[in-house]
Amino acid sequence: MAKTPLHLLCILILLASNSIQSHSLQDDFLFSGFNEAATNITLNGGAVIEHKGTIRLTNDTERVLGHAFYSNPIQFKNKNNTKVFSFSTSFAFAIIPQYPKLGGHGFAFTISPSNKLSNGYPSQYLGLLNPHDLGNFSNHLFAVEFDTVQDFEFNDINDNHVGINLNNMVSNKSVKACFFTDGSVQDLNLKSGSVIQTWIDYNSSTNHLEVRLSPTSSKPSSPILSYKLDLTPILQETMYIGFSSSTGLLSSSHYILGWSFKINGESKTLSLKHLPSLSSHTNHSKKSLFLGLSVSFLILLVLAVSLAFYIKMRNCDVIEAWELEVGPHRFSYKELKQATKGFKEKNLLGFGGFGKVYKGVLVSPNSKTEIAVKQISHESKQGVQEFISEIETIGKLRHRNLVQLLGWCRKKNDLILVYDYMENGSLDKYIFEKPRRILKWEERFRIIKGVACGLVYLHEEWEQTVIHRDVKAGNVLLDSDMNAKLGDFGLAKLYDHGENPSTTRVVGTMGYLAPELTRTGKPTTSSDVFAFGALLLEVVCGRRPIEGKALPEELVLVDWVWDKWRVGEVMEVVDKKLGGVYDEVEVLLVVKVGLLCSDELPQRRPTMRQVVRYLEGEVKLPEIDGFAGKKEGYSYRREFFERENTWSSAGDDVESAFASSLQLSGGR
Ligand SMILES: *[C@@H]1O[C@H](CO)[C@@H](O)[C@H](O)[C@H]1NC(C)=O
Ligand SMILES: *[C@@H]1O[C@H](CO)[C@@H](O)[C@H](O)[C@H]1NC(C)=O
Ligand SMILES: *[C@@H]1O[C@H](CO)[C@@H](O)[C@H](O)[C@H]1NC(C)=O
Ligand SMILES: *[C@@H]1O[C@H](CO)[C@@H](O)[C@H](O)[C@H]1NC(C)=O
Ligand SMILES: *[C@@H]1O[C@H](CO)[C@@H](O)[C@H](O)[C@H]1NC(C)=O
Ligand SMILES: *[C@@H]1O[C@H](CO)[C@@H](O)[C@H](O)[C@H]1NC(C)=O
Repeated sequence: MAKTPLHLLCILILLASNSIQSHSLQDDFLFSGFNEAATNITLNGGAVIEHKGTIRLTNDTERVLGHAFYSNPIQFKNKNNTKVFSFSTSFAFAIIPQYPKLGGHGFAFTISPSNKLSNGYPSQYLGLLNPHDLGNFSNHLFAVEFDTVQDFEFNDINDNHVGINLNNMVSNKSVKACFFTDGSVQDLNLKSGSVIQTWIDYNSSTNHLEVRLSPTSSKPSSPILSYKLDLTPILQETMYIGFSSSTGLLSSSHYILGWSFKINGESKTLSLKHLPSLSSHTNHSKKSLFLGLSVSFLILLVLAVSLAFYIKMRNCDVIEAWELEVGPHRFSYKELKQATKGFKEKNLLGFGGFGKVYKGVLVSPNSKTEIAVKQISHESKQGVQEFISEIETIGKLRHRNLVQLLGWCRKKNDLILVYDYMENGSLDKYIFEKPRRILKWEERFRIIKGVACGLVYLHEEWEQTVIHRDVKAGNVLLDSDMNAKLGDFGLAKLYDHGENPSTTRVVGTMGYLAPELTRTGKPTTSSDVFAFGALLLEVVCGRRPIEGKALPEELVLVDWVWDKWRVGEVMEVVDKKLGGVYDEVEVLLVVKVGLLCSDELPQRRPTMRQVVRYLEGEVKLPEIDGFAGKKEGYSYRREFFERENTWSSAGDDVESAFASSLQLSGGR
């Protein structure tokens, strides 16, 4: 009994301290929509609370971030050094991408020391972190990401996954989005635009974190992600909880419709039908909408569209510091117009298959940079869009034998790409017809080896395999020291999405097209090797792979070299312009490698890495007598020319006639 007063005192003290804490700290809440509780949510960046009661973290605007945090801090520990509490949260979200299949970039539920995340970058960083604080232990950041873009940099498994991130954008564990129903697992598309409920439960006594997803209001019994983890070192005594989202070159609108949270207990499951509905601007009812459009509404619409366009154009001109850091950056149209003196004819460097190329000079207070500006006009918006999604990737490619992409600009469906300027232009100007200057053999050999190194990098050395698809002399550019740099990688892909049927099936340039491409239409690293083989032979022979003006038996370069090889007169194919001054061993080596690469069967062609070893003399070439059946493949081509009798007319016309015929036969 004597203990009682003391006991009571203790309880009183405990109660008092508790009430002090609960005064400022709350550990349990439920939002079924956000209209009335706007004061409890702190918004940041582009995030807004809409009239209907949803939080819109981002809209379709490119490269923005949006944060929405519960305004009050949450107590996650009794004291700094004690064990973290259990917690549980549920929320309902929806992601509506700008283009149906392309998300950009996703969002995350996060627990962080601040409710601002002012150092977060957009795009792949989801507004959480930046390139400098990735993985830093002092971030004290926990996040469950809902990622709709596959970033190879962060080892993302696909473009539709849920992952657990600790102080880093590389997930400690991730799974493709799915949900359990009646014991079976079903795929779930995060960016479908439908509402998805998520449950995140952390039990601190078992150190288990579980994530569940469902398109319904009932909590599935099985988690899709279960991870053993002690959050004690990550979480501090008090933390903020909320959502972070961002868009990149591609964008989605990210919505949160409802949210509940609880410390040391299970959060309330949301009833989806009681949540605010997403706005009618989802495009389901477009038709009926159009029918009911009145004239005045149309005028309003026009005004709104032009306003949006104006804003977009204006946005285009603002380049923020992080844009310069995260790969290539966007140039303003004005800036490029100035740099090229209004895209003047005088500044025109040439025409490629993809459009006109201009020389430009970027002037800044302390420097002048020469650039090459490539204008690409394209019908298909989707194609441009997908390509832009790749610029972020392509812009990260860096190699001494690749032309550096500096940035881009988009004006309606015109895409403008900005590259390093290459003083000496393209290789074709030095080897065909009337060359600017005759390249010496040493120069040719060095150029070949350079291109080979660039291709090895694209095929094998980067985190992702990049297929060039349009290796040819016109795409090999020469800098002021005559170093070879491959240009235009990835561009051909743009034309896969084009509407012109003659370019849809097979892209590339006639004479460089691997035979299997016309059958499968599927570019591979070995189809690049084939094109590289054609390039080798061109450089040795000083002529195009298909030469309309040549004698019929010399029409197709590979055939001709092969014929000469068989009869032991291969040195006759060597470019006469060299005047007999060359290293015979090297020339023979290049011819042999050229023939190996031109094998009709892709599996018999060497890889680019093997090619480099052959050219460097590190590995001895295999014997190449065993080319049975080789002849047939190529005589088929020759037959075409003889039958159509088009070989007497020179140049690109022959090439395109031939190309479209191949496509027809390949497209059956
Ligand atoms: C919002 O904050 C007020 C006071 O800060 C509090 O009384 C109320 O319960 C909070 N609402 C929710 C849903 O957390
Ligand atoms: C997108 O959100 C930003 C920031 O809230 C806003 O300035 C912009 O007008 C919005 N754009 C559209 C098309 O709603
Ligand atoms: C807990 O740690 C944080 C960060 O180290 C510090 O700012 C805070 O003052 C500490 N709180 C207490 C009660 O020691
Ligand atoms: C981690 O961040 C802290 C605080 O910003 C900084 O002092 C420290 O140098 C960073 N550590 C690393 C390895 O970058
Ligand atoms: C999470 O992954 C990072 C590396 O990305 C690693 O340093 C860290 O130890 C991991 N944390 C846990 C709890 O496994
Ligand atoms: C954590 O797990 C233990 C053991 O399964 C269980 O007894 C306890 O209730 C759980 N705690 C929470 C907060 O779910």
